[in-house]
Amino acid sequence: MDMKLRTVTEAGVCGKKVLLRADFNVPLSDGEVADDFRIRAALPTIRWLLEQGARVGVCSHLGRPKGKVVPGLSLAPVAGRLSQLLGREVPMLPECIGDEVRRAVDDLPEGGLVLLENVRFHPGEEQNDPNFSRQLAAPFELYVNDAFGTAHRAHASTEGVTRLLPAYAGLLLAREVEVLSEITENPRRPYYVLVGGKKAKDKLGVLTDLLPKVDAFLIGGGVAFTFLVAQGKEVGSSIVDEELLPTIRELIQRAERQGKALHLPLDVVAARELSQAAETRVYPADAIPEGWMGLDIGPETVQAFTRVLKEAGTVVWAGPMGAFEYAPFSKGTEDVAKALSESKAFTVVGGGETGEAVVKLGLEKGFSHLSTGGGATLAFLRGKPMPALEPLRAG
Ligand code: 3PG
Repeated sequence: MDMKLRTVTEAGVCGKKVLLRADFNVPLSDGEVADDFRIRAALPTIRWLLEQGARVGVCSHLGRPKGKVVPGLSLAPVAGRLSQLLGREVPMLPECIGDEVRRAVDDLPEGGLVLLENVRFHPGEEQNDPNFSRQLAAPFELYVNDAFGTAHRAHASTEGVTRLLPAYAGLLLAREVEVLSEITENPRRPYYVLVGGKKAKDKLGVLTDLLPKVDAFLIGGGVAFTFLVAQGKEVGSSIVDEELLPTIRELIQRAERQGKALHLPLDVVAARELSQAAETRVYPADAIPEGWMGLDIGPETVQAFTRVLKEAGTVVWAGPMGAFEYAPFSKGTEDVAKALSESKAFTVVGGGETGEAVVKLGLEKGFSHLSTGGGATLAFLRGKPMPALEPLRAG
C-alpha cells in the first residue's frame, strides 16, 4: 500500500488546542511502565508541538478495559514516565471527556501539555460512537494522530474524531507509514520475512497474504511446529494446531510452485516443561521425542538462518524464535537479533514482543526501523484496511 499522509508540519499549530492521539499501550509491572519504547517514540511529535506553541491534550488507550474504568489500566504511570522523559511535570486528568478536560485545556498556556485518562474506559471508544467522538473532540481545535499501533482500528479516538477536527499525522505515524509503504511497494530484494511467536494461527494470515510479495519466509517459534508436522515430521509434544494442517499443506505447495523458500528449524532446544530451571536438550527438529517440546530454535538453525539473512535486501521480523522470556530458551531470539542488527539489509522489526526483545538486548540502533505497531504493522504489510490512516491521506 503506497500512502502519503498530511503531516502536522503542514498545520499552523501555534496557540491551537490540539488533541494528540498517542499509542501509550505499554506493558506495566507493579504499577510502573515496564517498557517505555512507545513513549519515547512519541516524544518527537510532542516536543515539536510544544516548541511550536501548541496547547496539547494527549490521549491514548491502555490495555483492554472493555468500556469500564479499570484502575490498574489508568494512564497515571505513563504520566510519570512521560514527565521524566520530557523533564517537566505532565499533569494527568482523571477523565478524557467532560467539563474538567475542557477547563484544563482552555487554561493551557502555549507549549502546555496534559495527559487525558484511558479512552477505553468508555464503551464509545471501541464502538466508534459519534457521540463519544464529539465529546472527545469538543475541547480541541485540531487533531494529530501519532498512534501507529492502533491505526488498524476504527475507534472514536483514531477515526471518529477525524470527522470533527482538521486531522494530521504526527511525525512518528508519518515515518512508520513511509517505511512500510516503501517495503510494500518497492522492497530491496531479496525480501525475506522472519516469523516467530507462539501460535501458528496468529501468523497464518500474514504468511498467506505476504507469500506473493516476499522471496522467502524463515519460520521459527511455536509457529514452526505445525509446519514441520504438515511436512510429516515428528515434533514430540511441541505446540501443534492440527486444524490448520490442511491450510498449511496448501500454503507449502503454493510456495513450492512459486519457487519461494520456506526455511524451517533444523534443530530445536527442547524441554519437558516451560520453566526457568528446565533441563534442556537439543534435538533435530524432525525427531523430538514424545514428552519433549521444542521451545527455541537450536544452534544449527541459528547458523542456517543467519546465512540466509546475510543475503537479504530487506528483512521484516515479526515474532520471537522461542520462549525468550525464559532464560533457557532465549538464545535463538538473541542470536538472530544480533545477526540482523549487523546485517546490511533494510531491517524492520514489528513491535510487541519482538521489539521488546530487541530493546532489552540494546540492539535498537542496529535496525533500520523498529515499528511501534504489532498487529498494525502486519495489517499494513498485508494490505489490510487501515481506517485511522485513510482520513489522513494527502491530496
Ligand atoms: C497494540 O498494542 O498492538 C496496539 O496498542 C493496539 O492494541 P489493541 O490490540 O488492544 O487494539
